[in-house]
Amino acid sequence: MTDVLPTTRTHPFDPPHEMLDDPRPMRRITFADGHEGWLVANYELSRAVLADQRFSSTLERRRALVRRPDVEGFRAGEPAPPGFFIGMDPPDHTRLRRLLTGQFTVRRMKALEPRIERIVADHLDAMAQAGPPVDLVSAFALPVPSLVICELLGVPYADRDRFQRDSATLLSLGASDEDASKAWVSMWTYLGELIERKRVEPADDLLGGLVAGGELSNEELAGVALLLLIAGHETTANMLGLGTFALFLHPDQLEALREDRVDVANAVEELLRYLTVISFGTTRTAIEDVELGGEVIRAGESVGVYLPTANRDPLRFTSGDDLDLSADAHGHLAFGHGVHQCLGQQLARIEMRIAYPALLRRFPTLRLAVPADEVPLRSDMSIYGVHRLPVEW
Ligand code: HEM
Repeated sequence: MTDVLPTTRTHPFDPPHEMLDDPRPMRRITFADGHEGWLVANYELSRAVLADQRFSSTLERRRALVRRPDVEGFRAGEPAPPGFFIGMDPPDHTRLRRLLTGQFTVRRMKALEPRIERIVADHLDAMAQAGPPVDLVSAFALPVPSLVICELLGVPYADRDRFQRDSATLLSLGASDEDASKAWVSMWTYLGELIERKRVEPADDLLGGLVAGGELSNEELAGVALLLLIAGHETTANMLGLGTFALFLHPDQLEALREDRVDVANAVEELLRYLTVISFGTTRTAIEDVELGGEVIRAGESVGVYLPTANRDPLRFTSGDDLDLSADAHGHLAFGHGVHQCLGQQLARIEMRIAYPALLRRFPTLRLAVPADEVPLRSDMSIYGVHRLPVEW
């Protein structure tokens, strides 16, 4: 029996120390269903797996490294639900992804910038009005990306309680199968109804655009919307929460960012690299025998790509296990790599480049309101981060 992936963190920003201290670039590992497969953990092999079409992303072939709730309609070993292209291979993936990239244009993202600045400023105003202490996650880190993705997609923000709750249940590793299945059906039903409405009343938003394009069925549209809604707010939200926490514990870096002594775009890349909030979600399965790192991965065997250590590979990144906002982090794998590389990365970057400096400038004395070891870490969730971040100023 080989090891299973450790997930408990003893340091808020480092991968579990068993992973950090293990120099092996590749090893055998037991997946959550008992399958004995592989784990790659350095930069070169991680990138190679993600770029190689002989490794499949389909949900039929997918296995998870860490046990997740078993959700009816979204189960490893069964085909991905319609529209849910993160769980598909080319050509099905290509067809859907192409339609989406047509909507995620640089121009559309740029046009969103003033709107994002407004959303950020409004939330900072509300924080100032509420006065300290404030939970930065619920007051800022979660609502900002949530509102942005709602505006982009054309999902009424007034419904956020429902989909934020459902999406949190789906991403919780400890949720019961029953609760996770209910959350899945609830989101699916909600988005199906929304799409029906957009067929009747055409809308000038991303979902409206896809409806008008006429190439996707209602079910496919609901699947695309579900994927974007979950991927679009939880990921960036956790980068904002965990990133601010990391800056608090690196005060010299925080000052440099606040005082514009580092390039904000560079700082965001380094935070993405250092924190790597998607830590064990990227797995693939070989569809034929593949030679990799001196081993043979047999057809049918799964490979976990462990991004947190790949992104700290000292052969690739000079800052390694440190956070250095002026270091060169380009080429990091926090957004994945290859055909499934994050579709929303430009949007996420724009949000973070606006949000971090605005927050630090608005509250020049912003600091943690509790001791650092009392900040609850999201070791129990698919996307890493902090559950809450109590701050004062
Ligand atoms: C800092 C924030 C984000 C991080 C760290 C992140 C990370 C990732 C990663 C690692 C993947 C690849 C998964 C794989 O290879 O299996 C991915 C895919 C994806 N992301 Fe993101 N993401 C972020 C923000 C966003 C946003 C804002 C959106 C939507 C607006 C989004 C939508 C997607 C979609 C649709 C995919 C699937 C792409 C495909 O299968 O072709 N993500 N993301």
